[in-house]
Amino acid sequence: MKEPGQGSQEITLLRGRRIVLGVTGSIAAYKAAALASRLTQAGAQVDAVLSRAATRFVTPLTFQSLTGRRAYVDDDMWGAESHILHVGLAHGADLVVVAPATANTLAKMAHGSADSLLTVTALAASCPLLVAPAMDAGMFAHAATQENLRLLRQRGVIVVGPVSGRMASGMVGPGRMVEPEELLGHIRLALARGGHLAGRQVVVTAGGTREPLDPVRLLTNRSSGKQGYAIAQAALDRGAQVVLISAPTALPTPVGAHRVDVETAEELKQAVFQHAPQADVLFMAAAVADFRPRKVVPEKIKRQKGALRLELEPTEDILGSLAAARQEWGRPTVVVGFAAESGDLVENARAKVAAKGLDLIVANDISAPDAGFDVDTNRVVTVDAAGVVQELPLMSKVQVAEILVERVIHLLEEYERP
Ligand code: CTP
Repeated sequence: MKEPGQGSQEITLLRGRRIVLGVTGSIAAYKAAALASRLTQAGAQVDAVLSRAATRFVTPLTFQSLTGRRAYVDDDMWGAESHILHVGLAHGADLVVVAPATANTLAKMAHGSADSLLTVTALAASCPLLVAPAMDAGMFAHAATQENLRLLRQRGVIVVGPVSGRMASGMVGPGRMVEPEELLGHIRLALARGGHLAGRQVVVTAGGTREPLDPVRLLTNRSSGKQGYAIAQAALDRGAQVVLISAPTALPTPVGAHRVDVETAEELKQAVFQHAPQADVLFMAAAVADFRPRKVVPEKIKRQKGALRLELEPTEDILGSLAAARQEWGRPTVVVGFAAESGDLVENARAKVAAKGLDLIVANDISAPDAGFDVDTNRVVTVDAAGVVQELPLMSKVQVAEILVERVIHLLEEYERP
């Protein structure tokens, strides 16, 4: 068992952040409980503020139990601590999230009404505000609601959703609150604004390419894409704009990343050459096929007696070609390569850093069961252009990603120092 606070659900960006979670009267209020739980596990301090109508669906005790902190209701505004509460909740908050946000609360917020603890808090807050509308499709489509949302957006409020789906009325249409896990992604984006990589373009390639043999079969590798996706999320958490060039994986796209889907090494190369010239950083985490079938057979290859001979030809070395082209672009300024090795880790990594003109290489021993393909942990060694070796202990791929992004931030600063 882990000690309290040592959960793997922690998110560095959220650790110690104060989030006011406003909950208003919609059936989606139960999803706000899941969000409060997730934010708390991530390390945030969550102060829930329930509107009067919200308490008909969920109770303050629900949120108190999940956040370990007091949850507030309108009556608290007139209690003994009202003088502190009045604006106190808003002060020092990093983000105010209203989820679910009903048409009524959105209308009040749009017009600066302050008739409840939540609306007072929203009005007093100087931090970013995020709302996740939830209501019947007809109410959402109404000109009054649309106008209120327009006003809020114009003032910089982040509006997330609603999405289409089945609503409590049985109607199907836009009005459902966005799911908590996706809201968490938007909360991360909001908190990452102004981070060290704000205004920077980061391109990440991830996953294992697939090389077709016939219409049914293909050659691929064991890459799950986990390390690349974790890097994309870590860059987003530092405020970067992220293009995620992804070979097929089973992973959800990190909220805010622009995902470009590719299959083959050739498609991946095209995408890299399209996006890398505008980028500040390229993380080449994809496991790119080194060989592909020389011929792609248009019909399914039939079973036959005896052996089937496959002729393979080498694919283009994308990083190698990039090193040459890069001289003309002047960018990307930082290129990070990866090396999957089954022996002589440091020696091979050193050779690749030089041969592929990299700023940093991240090498791992794929023969170790707790590192490399498809697991959540990794044990990597980095070698920079100067040949400096850094060995990192076994850690989660998320932690590896954060360390790599931090390294890149330092490299960018170093290169740009006058
Ligand atoms: N890579 C690439 N183009 C390829 C194959 C790999 O750009 N056709 C990139 C990978 O994305 C990775 C780095 O090169 O960042 C190293 O990949 P790896 O397969 O370890 O190196 P190779 O150069 O293929 O060397 P070897 O297979 O001989 O170890």
